[in-house]
Amino acid sequence: MGDSLTVTDNRNGKTYEIPIRDGAINAFDLRQIKTSPDDFGLMSYDPAYKNTASCKSRITYIDGDQGILRYRGYPIEQLAESMTYLECAQLLLEGELPAKDSYDKFAHEVTYHTFVHENVKRFMHGFRYDAHPMSMFISAVAALSSFYPEAAEVGDAEVRRRQIIRLIAKVPTLAAFAYRHTQGLPYVYPSNELSYTGNFLAMVFKMSESRYVPNPTLERAFDVLFILHADHEQNCSTSTMRQVGSSRVDPYTSLAAAAGALYGPLHGGANAEVLYMLEKIGRKENVPDFIRKVKSKEAMLMGFGHRVYRNYDPRARIIKKLAHEVFQVTGMNPLLDIALELERIALEEDYFVQRKLYPNVDFYSGLIYQAMRFPTEFFPVLFAIGRTVGWLAQWEEMVTDDEQKIARPRQLYLGHDVRDFKPFAQRG
Ligand code: SDX
Repeated sequence: MGDSLTVTDNRNGKTYEIPIRDGAINAFDLRQIKTSPDDFGLMSYDPAYKNTASCKSRITYIDGDQGILRYRGYPIEQLAESMTYLECAQLLLEGELPAKDSYDKFAHEVTYHTFVHENVKRFMHGFRYDAHPMSMFISAVAALSSFYPEAAEVGDAEVRRRQIIRLIAKVPTLAAFAYRHTQGLPYVYPSNELSYTGNFLAMVFKMSESRYVPNPTLERAFDVLFILHADHEQNCSTSTMRQVGSSRVDPYTSLAAAAGALYGPLHGGANAEVLYMLEKIGRKENVPDFIRKVKSKEAMLMGFGHRVYRNYDPRARIIKKLAHEVFQVTGMNPLLDIALELERIALEEDYFVQRKLYPNVDFYSGLIYQAMRFPTEFFPVLFAIGRTVGWLAQWEEMVTDDEQKIARPRQLYLGHDVRDFKPFAQRG
């Protein structure tokens, strides 16, 4: 007996031997299980992909029970402690820690692609003053596709690499333009003298000063935050990136779709939802009443729970610590007390313990963003900047994987059998 599964079909007593590889059976092996030659064959049914691996990947490893996260084998705690976001981006894309000269070249390329076509400013202007920054960001990323028609050549490795550099370089510029538009402020052009995160802070916050000098603690905080958000294997938005990209559309279009998935309140939009929730709770004394509402399903504790983690999200632990460093510069965020009290009570309550609900990446990040004076609606855009490299690394892996094809799930059809059309006069 090797690594295999013996399946007996009790409808006809037939037995099948199904190989197990890498801890999984190939769903297509089920198709041989039939009751007659014209039977379609057995399928597996898995709404929301709760137990289905859609790809083989070598990028990110999560052990949800232990609360472990690694990029390319390196523990997230070490990476967040020791590298810049761009170094992390190169690690995710290329699979190895870059040598210094390779890193310098990569950082230079990204730095020199940060500008966007002047027309981007014109269509940014077209948005209403109160447009949601995530809508603007998604639309602007999709629009980049029209500026780079060569991007359609997804089979060409050189072309793909150029778009990857462009996207990593330009997403902070698009994000900052969206922010400035909502504030009614003039757009700030990228500065090649600053680091990736320093330049982002400058494009967002620069006012009349001739030279913007980013605060080193906040600049470093963004490196850490972007690293922590950079990839998270087959989450909803990354699966979207792979799924849309599997049609061989250009990466700008796929990335806009992925950002669209991220925008949702159950995914990257949760960082903003946490803030709305904390503001609504208002005072530490109101926490027990809010927890009571969660337990009776009248409310949801945003920033808690995860499909994969059944333990503390290691990113949340790092962000919680980082918050204290940021607050030294920005001043304390008074909502922190409410968040800490929510966490303290939730971790003791049976409701959360039994369901293994712990704080996720979105629970503490918003407190930092708010302390830095970002408006709450902008938080998912900050998530999207960091996640861009993960989407692209996963897209590259998908495009170059011989086993991948256009993504096309099956369904279990439970609707009507064939019936004849009736004109209006004959309908009830
Ligand atoms: C991200 O997948 C990724 O990797 C995502 C991400 C990434 O980096 O890409 O980590 C980023 O999206 C983090 C998650 C952000 N979302 C939120 O914080 C929203 C609040 N969380 C929940 O909506 C929920 O926990 C999810 C969406 C994160 C996960 O949902 P699942 O896996 O489908 O779990 P579920 O909804 O089936 O919950 C199981 C039980 C249910 O109770 P019962 O029906 O068994 O009684 O737990 C309850 C749920 O009602 N539950 C919660 C809860 N989360 C789950 N109850 C109250 N508050 C919550 N937050």
